[in-house]
Amino acid sequence: MTGRRVSARIAAVSPSATLAVDAKAKALKAQGESVIGFGAGEPDFPTPEHIVVAAEAACRDPKTHKYTPTAGLPELREALAVKTKRDSGLEVTPAQILVTNGGKQAIANSFAALCDPGDEVLVLAPYWTTYPEVIVLAGGVPVVIATSAASRFRATVEQLEAARTPRTKVLLFVSPSNPTGAVYPRHEIEAIGRWAVEHGLWVLTDEIYEHLVYGTAEHHSMPVVVPELVDQCLVVNGVAKTYAMTGWRVGWMIGPTDMITAATNLQSHETSNVANVSQRAALAAVSGDLTAAEEMRLAFDRRRLTIHTMLNEIDGVSCNLPEGAFYAFPSVEGLYGRTIRGRRSTSSAELADLAIDEAKVAVVPGEAFGAPGYFRMSYALGDDDLVEGVSRLAKLFGEAS
Ligand SMILES: Cc1ncc(COP(=O)(O)O)c(C=O)c1O
Repeated sequence: MTGRRVSARIAAVSPSATLAVDAKAKALKAQGESVIGFGAGEPDFPTPEHIVVAAEAACRDPKTHKYTPTAGLPELREALAVKTKRDSGLEVTPAQILVTNGGKQAIANSFAALCDPGDEVLVLAPYWTTYPEVIVLAGGVPVVIATSAASRFRATVEQLEAARTPRTKVLLFVSPSNPTGAVYPRHEIEAIGRWAVEHGLWVLTDEIYEHLVYGTAEHHSMPVVVPELVDQCLVVNGVAKTYAMTGWRVGWMIGPTDMITAATNLQSHETSNVANVSQRAALAAVSGDLTAAEEMRLAFDRRRLTIHTMLNEIDGVSCNLPEGAFYAFPSVEGLYGRTIRGRRSTSSAELADLAIDEAKVAVVPGEAFGAPGYFRMSYALGDDDLVEGVSRLAKLFGEAS
């Protein structure tokens, strides 16, 4: 055979750095090493019991054993419309909702439906590692706009305007943010939404961390704050983070019916309906109350304060107080050029390697998020592990000379 085996388009896709770090940590654990993993973006809690019970019942129901509509179980789409109104205030009909295999597929579907070749998508860095990959796969061009710790990792309208060209079609917006934990205040969301309306841009707003905000931070949904945006806005959400349901793979996208129909047509050829048992579990999750979610949020809040304090006590490390999601995003640039255990690191990737090799602590280097110089550390792990893991880093980095 001559020519390439893997297509150029797919060969250009990098593996997910966050999943790779998690896999490395789990493999070391399996070999009996005591590894502390700050890599995975998933709650350490089990899925709440009433959700698991609903899934058990669904397994026994012959209706779930068959194909169901691609767009999602009608009762789940109804419940999602009610939940959306309850939680963010956005009024939508079930026809405006497509149930997907996790928020990830909702994002991939959205860009596939939005982008013609060469269409530019504004992506704010540090960005979640999946975003640029799916934009490129859809034929779009990610245009990255850097933000820094000094601006609390939030972009201004001036920055967005400076990056806008005649080819700009979409702004990708996420608040609370993975990886930085940044949360935009209402007036900034309003300013960005109005700017998008003024220039006829689409906004894809990723609301998967909507319930994970702390202190005085609040979540606001852009199409609620700027209703004029509704016809050019896609909202992505899912059960993974709020209900500790990462493995069930249920997300959804909300938008104008032409977009939802287009994305449903695409999904009908790619994956068809999301597994019915998972959909029934998601139905129990979103139609129940938020008691379990609130208990988990309180635990994350406690861990957030601990990790923030402990990281800032390490010489060479500095960290903003995260306001949402469950990630700390410390700068480690203060450790560049210093020697630790005979190794002199000049990048966050090298420091992350040092952390796993010498302290058995897994973190994701900022390079994976378009932001070298930082670590992303998920604090959705147990309190004791968190303290042990950061203590190990403090000890290791304390040896820097
Ligand atoms: C910002 C953001 N959006 C979407 C997702 C997708 O989550 P899932 O596909 O597990 O629903 C994640 C998961 O890490 C995320 O961090």
